[in-house]
Amino acid sequence: MSGGPKRPIKDRIAGFLRDLKPFLRDEQIIVDRDGMSHFCYDATELRFMPDVVLLPTSTAQVSEIMRLSYAHDVAVTPQGGRTGLSGGALPVNGGAVLSLVRMNRIIEIDRKNMQIVVEPGVIASDLQEALKAYNLFFPPDPSSTVESTLGGNVAENAGYTRAVKYGVTRDYVLGLEVVLPGGEVVNAGGHTVKNVTGYDLVALMVGSEGTLGIVTKIICKILPKPAFRRTLVFYLDDLIGAADLVVAIFEGGITPCAIEFMDKTSIGCVSDYLAGTEVLRKDAEVMVLIEVDGNHEAATHEEAERVLLLGRKMAGVIEARLTSDDGEAERFWRIRRETLPALKSLGKDHLEADVVVPRYRLPYLARAIKEAAAGKKVNVATYGHAGDGNLHVTIQYRKRNFAELQEANELLVDIYRKTVDMEGKLTGEHGVGITVRDYLKVQMTPEEIGLMKRIKQAFDPKGLLNPGKIFPEGP
Ligand code: LAC
Ligand code: ZN
Repeated sequence: MSGGPKRPIKDRIAGFLRDLKPFLRDEQIIVDRDGMSHFCYDATELRFMPDVVLLPTSTAQVSEIMRLSYAHDVAVTPQGGRTGLSGGALPVNGGAVLSLVRMNRIIEIDRKNMQIVVEPGVIASDLQEALKAYNLFFPPDPSSTVESTLGGNVAENAGYTRAVKYGVTRDYVLGLEVVLPGGEVVNAGGHTVKNVTGYDLVALMVGSEGTLGIVTKIICKILPKPAFRRTLVFYLDDLIGAADLVVAIFEGGITPCAIEFMDKTSIGCVSDYLAGTEVLRKDAEVMVLIEVDGNHEAATHEEAERVLLLGRKMAGVIEARLTSDDGEAERFWRIRRETLPALKSLGKDHLEADVVVPRYRLPYLARAIKEAAAGKKVNVATYGHAGDGNLHVTIQYRKRNFAELQEANELLVDIYRKTVDMEGKLTGEHGVGITVRDYLKVQMTPEEIGLMKRIKQAFDPKGLLNPGKIFPEGP
């Protein structure tokens, strides 16, 4: 999808900015390197410098930017809180970064219809705070909640721990206002919970990684906040025991709101990174954290007790207990949230995988990865969302050591192959972006990739919106 603009980029940018001037204030256009350096990285730690950063505050301004980008053949990369883990918001081909952080109004909290209308730059945790005042909540809440934006969460179809019971972002979005490449403003879906009028463009837009249009308004369902929650901690001396534990819980008719998984390496790493981790047991092969929630205290407590009893009967479980209070529970959830930052803090180079398999297979995949890594110089940690079959893998290596670099890359491909063999998918919640695009064909046929490319072409015939993402480069 190469638009193939021929005039030099400097000229195209100059024309683009000249024509944009009447629509944006000076301080909404950043062209100095210092100012732009803030917008050139995300959580992948990769860096790409744009030619200009634009900070629109309205749909009309976004529309002008998109119209003029088409007129001047300038690539546009939409960007939110820059917490993405696949490079989706990085301007890999230069051009303009369109940052939506200033479109950050919570437009409406409609309690009668249990809906909200927000702009894309609203920070996830700000929304949660605003909803808390009414005892409401928005279930998809990524670990990057204090930085990530709703627009970014829509673009990546964010998940995190509560997905096992409450689903992911796509399950909550009812409607979107979208500015298309070329500047047209369209609405997909709206304020109704049901809608089968034509194709489901909302479902298509959510998770499209900012490659089809710029989301400028989001209408979402919200829920009453469950009044009670209990957290349980299980330690096992064997990975596979975790598969049986998770299945036993669902077979027992219980749907916890979170079932999380951390292996020994992850546990060790967080213990060294965070204060207050004495609560952790470091000799176990795996820790499973479970949260149940509900609106009736006795029922929630009973559910937690049932999970505890089930767990105590399982082979491989060496310790099972309820956390004593909310404070202790929060310490465990903080440990889980800080796992990736802890793994990154070791100062080594790292590759991340975000694979997803049918739930029962997750511990088997984790074991197969461990076996594949045994005897290698690279270090591998696995953790993630056991209730969703979504396994995060961090491969630590040293880029400068050629043998380790090669080992790390081979292991990553091996992980993707094993995942597909287990009927899994390459990414469960972090997206394809630039980090997974070259592996797409491990999972998808040329026909499947071709169909997706035709959808991209229908939205963005010039290939100027977020170029270089999702699809492998070249033929
Ligand atoms: C997590 C992020 C990395 O689960 O997805 O911690
Ligand atoms: Zn995750």
